[in-house]
Amino acid sequence: LKLKLISNSPQETEKFGEKLAEFLKKNNCRSKVIALYGNLGMGKTAFARGFMRDFGFKGIVNSPTFNILHEYCIENIVIYHFDMYRINSLEDLESTGFFEYIDNSILIIEWSENIENFLCKDVIKVKFSLGENILERNIILEGIENFESFSV
Ligand SMILES: Nc1ncnc2c1ncn2[C@@H]1O[C@H](COP(=O)(O)OP(=O)(O)OP(=O)(O)O)[C@@H](O)[C@H]1O
Ligand SMILES: [Mg+2]
Repeated sequence: LKLKLISNSPQETEKFGEKLAEFLKKNNCRSKVIALYGNLGMGKTAFARGFMRDFGFKGIVNSPTFNILHEYCIENIVIYHFDMYRINSLEDLESTGFFEYIDNSILIIEWSENIENFLCKDVIKVKFSLGENILERNIILEGIENFESFSV
């Protein structure tokens, strides 16, 4: 099952991130992998920013490109924001702590293409691509069984 969305602005992409967070909270989800796909500047971080904000994070959210991982502590919950741009091997991935977090935390992962082989089946995939103009992005959501509660 897929949900196709069109975003017409960075703000709208953030809004979609908020919607996904809302959905997880409503389902009392305490462990989930959100795998983001798409090229440079497609809006993965914008989406993650909205996601984090909806969980109540008040600080700055940017790409963890150089440090690979940002950890956001929000009251009683921790969300791990990964950027796999520089991850090329299992050794690299192990060194990030990914396998320690994966079963008991919420992870949101940019450049999931690079770790595709290590993702389990029940991840939520969010795929970004360029739309028909400079402010448009096509966003495809996969891995949610019931999109009813995901009205946008
Ligand atoms: N509809 C849109 N949604 C999201 N971003 C948009 C949109 N239209 C234009 N933009 C611009 O595209 C860029 C998206 O940047 P963002 O950091 O979210 O991308 P990214 O996918 O995380 O890239 P990277 O792989 O470099 O981390 C921003 O400069 C933003 O202003
Ligand atoms: Mg980014």
